[in-house]
Amino acid sequence: MRILVTGKNGQVGRCLMDQGDSYGFNMHGMSSSELDITNIRNVDSVISQIKPDLVINAAAYTAVDKAETDMKSAYAVNETGPKLLAATCKKLDIPLFHISTDYVFDGESEIPYKETDTVNPTSVYGRSKLMGELAVRNTLSKHIILRTSWVFSEHGNNFVKTMLRLGFERDELSVVGDQVGGPTSANGIATTLLKIAKQYEFRAQVQWGVYHYCGAPYVSWFGFAEEIFGECVRLSLLESSPELRKVFSVEYPTTVKRPANSRLSTIKITNNFGIHPDDWQETLINVFNKLKRSQ
Ligand SMILES: NC(=O)c1ccc[n+]([C@@H]2O[C@H](COP(=O)([O-])OP(=O)(O)OC[C@H]3O[C@@H](n4cnc5c(N)ncnc54)[C@H](OP(=O)(O)O)[C@@H]3O)[C@@H](O)[C@H]2O)c1
Repeated sequence: MRILVTGKNGQVGRCLMDQGDSYGFNMHGMSSSELDITNIRNVDSVISQIKPDLVINAAAYTAVDKAETDMKSAYAVNETGPKLLAATCKKLDIPLFHISTDYVFDGESEIPYKETDTVNPTSVYGRSKLMGELAVRNTLSKHIILRTSWVFSEHGNNFVKTMLRLGFERDELSVVGDQVGGPTSANGIATTLLKIAKQYEFRAQVQWGVYHYCGAPYVSWFGFAEEIFGECVRLSLLESSPELRKVFSVEYPTTVKRPANSRLSTIKITNNFGIHPDDWQETLINVFNKLKRSQ
């Protein structure tokens, strides 16, 4: 089966490209310069040339704070892009797998969010991603929308790599302790999408719709940072951990207020596809080992 991947140089895009062959797929990865998802002509011509059996959209505008003042670009990539991809997939009668975010929720709930819970994004990024979800759902019935959270990998920019950098630079670090979520490896997201693609290849029919997928167990950013530094020291990536100070979100103001509760319930994806959340403590060690090998 031929799979076209947009945003091949992003965290998830790279992991999809790394793993796709091992699932027996013929992977066609596209960078933003090879396929700009906001450009209708580009989308049409590339997809009709490659003739994929499935498109995975790993492209997105992910700069959460910058999106507040760069709304046009955020909506172009996160809403118009998926809409164009969905329309082209509909013409070709092929499915689109699209990735979304916990930021479609306001984080006020006391329990993990289910797919059917009310959305209420509180940022431009969250609203643009929600509009992208709606564009896909309203255009194409054959879709998987995978909402995920707190993505980390050895690639690109993410919390794990920021902590590692700050660990070299500082003796003391303040980390937010009142926001909780499921850290998710980009590799785990790629595996999840490819496993669903495999089920589609065999059965030609899957239960389309919105799914939640994130790493387990849930943890605060502070708890995640503790684990990151513990592993860094154990694997000799750092000599010692900086002193960690647990702070409240109000003490660490950011342009966008992050959801206090980013926990996503993964029951539906387990029931429908037999996919279980990764243990992020294990996937974190894999990421550090890859970083160590690349040193
Ligand atoms: N990162 C997180 O913590 C997080 C959390 C929840 C959900 N998500 C979602 O997970 C998905 C993957 O995130 P990620 O962390 O892998 O993202 P990422 O590393 O920021 O990669 C995004 C990719 O999209 C590409 N892109 C941007 N504009 C494009 C355009 N107009 N046409 C084609 N490609 C374009 C970028 O290419 P260039 O580099 O060339 O611009 C980049 O390679 C996204 O849908 C994101 O919203 C992420």
